[in-house]
Amino acid sequence: MKKILLSFASVLILVGAGCASTTTLPPAAQEQPAPAPTPEPAPEPTPTPEPPCCPPPETETEPEPTPPVSDEPTGAKTYTMAEVAAHAGAASCWSAINGSVYDLTSWIGKHPGGESAILSLCGRDGSATFNNQHGGSALQENRLASFKIGALK
Ligand code: HEM
Repeated sequence: MKKILLSFASVLILVGAGCASTTTLPPAAQEQPAPAPTPEPAPEPTPTPEPPCCPPPETETEPEPTPPVSDEPTGAKTYTMAEVAAHAGAASCWSAINGSVYDLTSWIGKHPGGESAILSLCGRDGSATFNNQHGGSALQENRLASFKIGALK
């Protein structure tokens, strides 16, 4: 009987030892927490193709430049002798000299040779008078040219 008890006890010890070995696992064998999955890198956004070329935005059409409205006669005009004759005084002094028409109004008070010399030209053909006094002189002829408003018809 004692033998049976001993062998039973040794069986118990052996079973216990086996159990102990299975219950305490080494730390390495313990289940490690699964590493967090690294997120996939976001795919590169593919550039959206440009829409087919659109017509350029409508630009505001520039208004046609209107020529300056002026009563000032230009050198491109032509005048009849009758028109010249209508400007025969100090208020408006036109003279026809050598086929061109001149507005001498502003020159009356500035003429170095005196007002009366210019007033004598107003409203008529002053070619002979001017040529006799200043003909061939670049200074006087250039000054005369600065008053030209057109051609005599
Ligand atoms: C539109 C026509 C004329 C123009 C543009 C004109 C222009 C001039 C100018 C620029 C001068 C100064 C010259 C200088 O400083 O050397 C002058 C002087 C003079 N002008 Fe006239 N002139 C005109 C008509 C006349 C007329 C018709 C007469 C006489 C009939 C006359 C008689 C004189 C005299 C006496 C002088 C001062 C002396 C001289 O420089 O000969 N001019 N003129």
